[in-house]
Amino acid sequence: MSYAHIIVLQQDLYAVVQINRPEVLNALNVTLMHELVDALESLDTSPEVRCIIITGNEKAFAAGADIKEMAEASSMEMLQRDQFARWDRIRKIRKPLIAAVSGFALGGGCELVMTCDLVVASETALFGQPEINIGVMPGAGGTQRLTRAVGKVKAMEMILTGRMISAAEALQWGLINKVVPVEYYLEEAKSWASEIASKPPIAVRLAKESVLKAFDTTIEGGLEFERKNFYLLFSSEDQKEGMSAFSQKRKPEWKAK
Ligand code: CAA
Repeated sequence: MSYAHIIVLQQDLYAVVQINRPEVLNALNVTLMHELVDALESLDTSPEVRCIIITGNEKAFAAGADIKEMAEASSMEMLQRDQFARWDRIRKIRKPLIAAVSGFALGGGCELVMTCDLVVASETALFGQPEINIGVMPGAGGTQRLTRAVGKVKAMEMILTGRMISAAEALQWGLINKVVPVEYYLEEAKSWASEIASKPPIAVRLAKESVLKAFDTTIEGGLEFERKNFYLLFSSEDQKEGMSAFSQKRKPEWKAK
């Protein structure tokens, strides 16, 4: 896979997708997002990949949507371009997505982090929704995902003031999973990816699907969805292997079937 603005590397049973426009702090232009979605969808169907890391560089995960690309657009152009609709396809990726964040994760960058399932950050990471400072508001999920992640008042604080929060605050607010020194954030994300890649893939897929269901259904609907996925796993070979390995006190060997 060869792209202009991202780099895709596959190792062991996971892939690392690096956003690569360092000259503009990884601002997310339309081409980059096309490439990112294309790469994620392709990795999602690859049997060699069980978990995907999205990262940037030490200075920036992504400083938001590309402001210069949007600046002169009219509403009708934005509507016809509908560039943020493509971002919805990231939510449909079935494999676990880990964001490995260092430096700026702002606007669309923060929104991209929030479409991931797990977030590992460096101590230097900064998260924010600064769109208010340029006359707009979050447009790729920020008002909805941030509110669900950190609650109403903290989401209001970030969105209405545009203030950036540190990795330590983001951890305390429940926006991210872990903070490590800057030299280790990618290694830490890789170790999480390896661990998840060592689990039975069908159970991982249905577990991710069930957790995400909690965001768009009632508790009853979600519990029913969870239960059916649980029962469904009893037709997988990995369920039989996992439970018999437990009884036989040995390590299970997953077949992804
Ligand atoms: N779009 C386009 N270019 C950007 C950019 C963005 N979001 N963020 C940074 N850049 C560019 C700068 O224009 C600059 O380019 P030049 O060298 O050609 O001038 C280069 O990246 C380096 O940036 P700075 O010189 O500004 O670096 P800094 O360290 O002084 O400041 C910063 C860093 C605080 C992140 C600052 O760049 C900044 O405020 N960026 C914009 C952040 C922002 O508003 N993001 C939201 C975008 S809108 C959005 O995302 C909508 C949505 O909901 C999807």
